[in-house]
Amino acid sequence: MEIIIQPTAEAATSVAARLIARLLREKPNAVLGLATGSTPLLLYRELIALKLDWRKVTTFNLDEYVGLDAKHPQSYHSFMWENLFRHVNIAKKNVHIPDGMTKDIPKFCATYEKQIRAAGGIDLQVLGIGTDGHIGFNEPSSSLASRTRIKTLTQQTRKDNARFFGSEAAVPHHCITMGIGTIMEARQNLLLAFGPKKARAIAAAVEGPITAMNPASVLQLHPVTKVCLDTAAAARLKRADYYRWVYENKPEWQQI
Ligand code: F6R
Repeated sequence: MEIIIQPTAEAATSVAARLIARLLREKPNAVLGLATGSTPLLLYRELIALKLDWRKVTTFNLDEYVGLDAKHPQSYHSFMWENLFRHVNIAKKNVHIPDGMTKDIPKFCATYEKQIRAAGGIDLQVLGIGTDGHIGFNEPSSSLASRTRIKTLTQQTRKDNARFFGSEAAVPHHCITMGIGTIMEARQNLLLAFGPKKARAIAAAVEGPITAMNPASVLQLHPVTKVCLDTAAAARLKRADYYRWVYENKPEWQQI
């Protein structure tokens, strides 16, 4: 893992945005895995401002709530179109987001996996992290080899996401999410985390044992994972000084 600690969420986001911008310039038909929630909002704003060419880009989102129509204001379909897609020149046919209203969830999930493979696999997967260590909606105890499937959200996640729905009761119980095995097949993972509420989960993911109790910890096994943090999210890392030194002293050829 490469741990990149910046003073603010804005600065950490800029590192991530530069990485994605470089990928899209070098590979105009790149396949991106995308996340929703508060964390990537700054990233999407910065990517929009960079005016990149998205015509040939294909995207796959990590997850969607079961039972929410694409038009529901809190669906991840609405989120993605509102916060990124409608502002860039992406082709609608190249956008993939799990269908929370599908009648046949297992069949839908198998097709989603096939579509990722048919697109050539994900070049770069953007990830946030839950306060319980989830990536996508792979909650603690998820199989580290899991594929796209239905999952039940923990009470903690429903509580965390109540801010979007007005009340905890309104947060759906189920979601469709890419599996941890699916995420691990991305050529590159880019995990973002900001704010003090993420510090415990980040410390466990980066410096703790690899365990299904903190699904993000599996990224320790991924050969190319960058973790972009602000100071608050990095606050519980024991080796923060080392990570800072490494990033600040990278040889030029190795820099983002
Ligand atoms: C969303 C997703 C989740 C979020 C996580 C953090 O697509 O996959 O793993 O990244 O719940 O959410 P925020 O960013 O709202 O704190």
